[in-house]
Amino acid sequence: MSAEIFEKVNQVLQDIEISSPSNTEELEAFRIKYLGSKNSIKPLFGEIRNIENERKKEFGQLVNAVKQAAEQKFSSAQDALESQSESASASDLDLSAPAEPFALGSRHPISITQNRIVDIFSRIGFTVSENREIEDDWHNFTAMNTPEDHPARDMQDTFYLQNSTEMLLRTHTSSVQARVMTKTQPPIRIIAPGRVYRNETISARAHCQFHQVEGLYVDENVSFADMKQTLLYFAQEMFGQGTKIRLRPSYFPFTEPSAEMDVSCFICNAEGCNVCKYTGWVEILGCGMVDPEVLDRCGIDSKKYTGFAFGMGVERQAMLLYGINDIRLLFENDVRFLKQFTSAL
Ligand code: DAH
Repeated sequence: MSAEIFEKVNQVLQDIEISSPSNTEELEAFRIKYLGSKNSIKPLFGEIRNIENERKKEFGQLVNAVKQAAEQKFSSAQDALESQSESASASDLDLSAPAEPFALGSRHPISITQNRIVDIFSRIGFTVSENREIEDDWHNFTAMNTPEDHPARDMQDTFYLQNSTEMLLRTHTSSVQARVMTKTQPPIRIIAPGRVYRNETISARAHCQFHQVEGLYVDENVSFADMKQTLLYFAQEMFGQGTKIRLRPSYFPFTEPSAEMDVSCFICNAEGCNVCKYTGWVEILGCGMVDPEVLDRCGIDSKKYTGFAFGMGVERQAMLLYGINDIRLLFENDVRFLKQFTSAL
C-alpha cells in the first residue's frame, strides 16, 4: 500500500522536475497546480496517516521535497521569463529611429543686426576689438577729449560704480578707441561692438542699456573722403544698394569736424513715412575725423597720422530693419517675440 503512495509522490516530483513553464500562462497554470490554494501537493500530506510508522518520517521528507521542488521550479521559471522579456524589449530598441525633436533657439535680433554690421566691415579689412564694459573715467571721457564739466559726465547720465567717481559703466564704445590707441600704433582699423549704459528713463524709445558698434581707422593720409566712402559702402550693404547717405554737420568732443549720418528711408523708399517722420531720411550714426587732441592723449603722433571714427546704435538699426516699435521688447526676452527671428549669421 505505502509503496504505491511512495511511487505516486515520486511521480509528482518527477513531473515537477521535467515541467518547464515557458510563458506566463504556463507559469500561472504551474502555480495553481502545485502552489495554489487547492494544489495537488496538499492532499499528499494527508496520506501520511496511511504510511506505516517506520516510514512516516521518510514519507514526510519526500512530500516536503516535492513542495520545495515546486517552489524552486516556480521561482526559477519566473526569473527566466522576466529576463527574457527584458532582453526582448532591449532588442525592440530601434537604433535608427529619429531622435526626440530638440527645440532649437533662435538668435536675438540684436545679435543678428550686430553680426551683420561686423560682417560688412570685416569684408573691408576691419578687425573686431572688444573691451571692458566697466571703464575708468580716463578712457571713457578724458582720453576722448570730453571736458570735466561736460554734461555726459553727470551722475544723471552716467552710472558710476558705488562710492566711485573714477569707475563707471561705459557710456559709449568710444572708450575702446582709447583702449586700442594706447596699446597699438597705426595703421589701426578696428570695429568695437558692445553693450553700453546710460542713466535714462526706460521708455519705448530709450533704455538704460543698449549696444553700439564703434569704428576707428587711423593711418597716414586718412581723409574725410575715405570716411564717406566707407560709410556709403556700409549703408548700401546694410540697407540695400539703392541707399543714399547724407552727412549733417554736428559736434562730438572727440572728432573734428563731426557729422551725423542719415540714410535714405528704406521703408518708404524716401517718399515719407512715420519712421522717417516724412523727411525721407533716418539718422543712424555719428562720425568725424579723430580730433588730433585725442590722438595725442592716446600716444599717437597727430602730425603724422589722421583718422576717422564713427559710432552707431545697434537697437535703432534692428528696430528699423525689423519694424520693431518698442525698444523694451529687445530686452524682455519673451520667447513669443524672439522666436520670430532667424538668421544664418
Ligand atoms: N560716442 C558717440 C555716442 O555715443 C557716437 C560717436 C560719434 C562715436 C562720433 C564716434 C564718432 O566714434 O566719431 O553718441
